Amino acid sequence: MDIRVDMRSDTVTKPSPEMRKAMYEAEVGDDVYRDDPTVNRLQDKAAEMLGKEAGLFVASGTQGNLVSVLAQAQRGDEIIVGDMCHIFNSEAGGVSVLGSVVMYPVKTDRHGILASDLIHAAVKPRDYHKPPTKLLCIENSHNNTSGQVISPQATKTMADAGREHGLRVHLDGARLFNAAVSQGIDVKELTAPVDTATFCLSKGLSCPIGSIVVGDADFIEEAGRWRKILGAGMRQVGIVAAAGLVALDSMVDRMADDHVNAKKLAEGLAELPGIALDPNEIVTNIVRFGVPAGTGDKIAAHLKEQGVYINGGDADLRMVTHYGVDSEDIDFTLLAMRNVMSEVA
Ligand SMILES: Cc1ncc(COP(=O)(O)O)c(C=O)c1O
Repeated sequence: MDIRVDMRSDTVTKPSPEMRKAMYEAEVGDDVYRDDPTVNRLQDKAAEMLGKEAGLFVASGTQGNLVSVLAQAQRGDEIIVGDMCHIFNSEAGGVSVLGSVVMYPVKTDRHGILASDLIHAAVKPRDYHKPPTKLLCIENSHNNTSGQVISPQATKTMADAGREHGLRVHLDGARLFNAAVSQGIDVKELTAPVDTATFCLSKGLSCPIGSIVVGDADFIEEAGRWRKILGAGMRQVGIVAAAGLVALDSMVDRMADDHVNAKKLAEGLAELPGIALDPNEIVTNIVRFGVPAGTGDKIAAHLKEQGVYINGGDADLRMVTHYGVDSEDIDFTLLAMRNVMSEVA
């Protein structure tokens, strides 16, 4: 059967017709000379929306985190990360490979929060046996805790704990707008407590490529230098940035639909035999659920035969709603899951 619903990730989204038109018509220049007016507009707009001085367009969320860390921690420095965060688990150890920066993982609670006492305990005393701690990294929404959101107050509490020791604070906001829309707040409230932040254009915002890094002007200059070192100084990249401008105007409020669809999906899944899931915990577009040990790959394979595409696994599976998934697709998925689980569970 053809794939009808692809919920492997929100990265599978395709650009909207309005984005394609804007990309076709984009005014461009050489961005390494800072001459691309579309990139400049996107960077300024994103920085303004997130309440920071300046912005930098980068190729991916991974690259955004990488340049953010490398601009704020030197070779031999240490950064504090959550043990379930994307930087620590899913970015191929890039900050260590390319920057010789040590990552110190701290236990993450089920809401994606790092407790203040754990942050305090993680900071190394000044001692030449130890790597100096320079940066605290947090993540919102939190992918591995099923898209949990962190409030402005909880963000401030974590940031304050780091600041007590002179740390700077970086927010991996790959899905930052999901976190803001879910809480019904301005995204600035989530970025105010941190020094630097990234968000992805290529996830729920549905652009084909790109992320934005924001912070003060000095930091952005340094992050731009690291982007160049990484070989990612791009030229007429306004072609791509044009989609980002459309996304910031037209794709943010729409994310509420993705959250409604995710909640409906979670409520339906929770009723099926063999599925472990609390729908009350689903507040954005990521639905993670437990299945009997060893059945995840089989469930994913059977679902694919029925036209629903998700990643496999052992006892944990994930479905992610996005611009390409509507309410009927959720009905279709739940029907397919009912069939599959009656075979497997
Ligand atoms: C929380 C988080 N940060 C960063 C990234 C990296 O983004 P990219 O895939 O664009 O490199 C992801 C991707 O899924 C993510 O979920």
